[in-house]
Amino acid sequence: MNKQSFSTRIINTGFQKNDAHGAITLPIYRNAAFEFSDSETIAAAFQSKITAHTYSRISNPSVANFEQKIKAASGAESVIALSSGMAAITNAFFAIAYAGCNIVSSPRLFGNTFSFFKSTLSAFGVEVRFVDANDLQQITDAIDENTCAFFAELITNPHMEVADLTEISKILKAKNVPMIIDTTLVPWCAFDAKKAGVDVEIVSTTKYISGGATSTGGVIVDYGTYDWSANKKLATLNKPENLSLFSFKLRSEIVRNLGAYMPPDTAYMHGLGLETLEVRYEQMSRTAYELAQHFSTHPKVVRAGYPKLDTSPYKAVSDAMFTGNPGAMFTFNLATKADCYRFMDRLKIIRRATNLFDNKTLVIHPESTIYSTFPPQLKKIIGIEDTLIRFSAGLENVEDLKQDIESALEFI
Ligand SMILES: Cc1ncc(COP(=O)(O)O)c(C=O)c1O
Repeated sequence: MNKQSFSTRIINTGFQKNDAHGAITLPIYRNAAFEFSDSETIAAAFQSKITAHTYSRISNPSVANFEQKIKAASGAESVIALSSGMAAITNAFFAIAYAGCNIVSSPRLFGNTFSFFKSTLSAFGVEVRFVDANDLQQITDAIDENTCAFFAELITNPHMEVADLTEISKILKAKNVPMIIDTTLVPWCAFDAKKAGVDVEIVSTTKYISGGATSTGGVIVDYGTYDWSANKKLATLNKPENLSLFSFKLRSEIVRNLGAYMPPDTAYMHGLGLETLEVRYEQMSRTAYELAQHFSTHPKVVRAGYPKLDTSPYKAVSDAMFTGNPGAMFTFNLATKADCYRFMDRLKIIRRATNLFDNKTLVIHPESTIYSTFPPQLKKIIGIEDTLIRFSAGLENVEDLKQDIESALEFI
């Protein structure tokens, strides 16, 4: 990575000096098809003999520009942008998983990711082995010769658990298993994924990066650190020099066949959002920490969840892995589910909505919404409590938010 700071690097990547009108942000290429001067040239483009955009389900200049910016932010070798965070997760696993393989994963997952593993992937003969990501022995024991990846969320949503990726990485390296982590909750300005041993990152760009919940999007970030020739599905591919077997499989087959590449309008907005990510993240995560700390001693709050709190069992690992504050999500446990509803219904500034890292502060009761379709035994496995409320800190003034929460707590 070069020496420029995080935001400078992003802002100066993809800058077009030769635009016909001198536009300082790449205009949106909102078109499906690209024209070629002759038959030889279009054939060469399809056969990857020249680099050119042919069709926007496969690649597009606006999306390529956004991918370059993500490369600058992360320092990764290859990035591919999809239409949502879930599209990034599903495309990544369709690239590496095959009937008879298994994935070792924490069950502490965002609801749709858990459902994808448990219902969708299992129908294709892929086994997902759920382990406690804080128990290194369990991880070691679950891995065998058919394990095609270890997967976890960087900070689990909504439990706020933090696994020690550096320690897990040692096991995975010894067993030659790639580490794929959903890092949606903490961006690169506060977390160095490559240093922690992450081979592939999945990020829902819907969250911080979209710049205020402007649209859904996701990226698969490949650090090029894993030799995928150990994966039976990828080993025999004849790949070009500049891509890993994984990214080659994604680009040349999976993404174009599944048809969930990022739309150009989304790429434009998420590219702009990325330019202001660092300043927004700093304020949102400072607010999350301050609110979690302030209300952790409130008599009506049974427990406040945030990895940097002294009461969190994950404080030491969080302090070691993250610079600054660990994310803009925090949680409260109240005494009962009825108290959660009573409290949420009295909030005036904070909005009841399911998203994270909007400019607006959001609140949700995960058990009765995101996880409502799961039967009680699965909620138990995933670790979903009906007394938990999840907050996502926005950009409003922290004192106004404190007042809003304080007033609503009086009603329980
Ligand atoms: C941690 C995490 N990963 C992935 C996703 C899925 O992202 P998207 O909604 O962009 O598909 C979410 C959505 O809330 C999430 O919280």
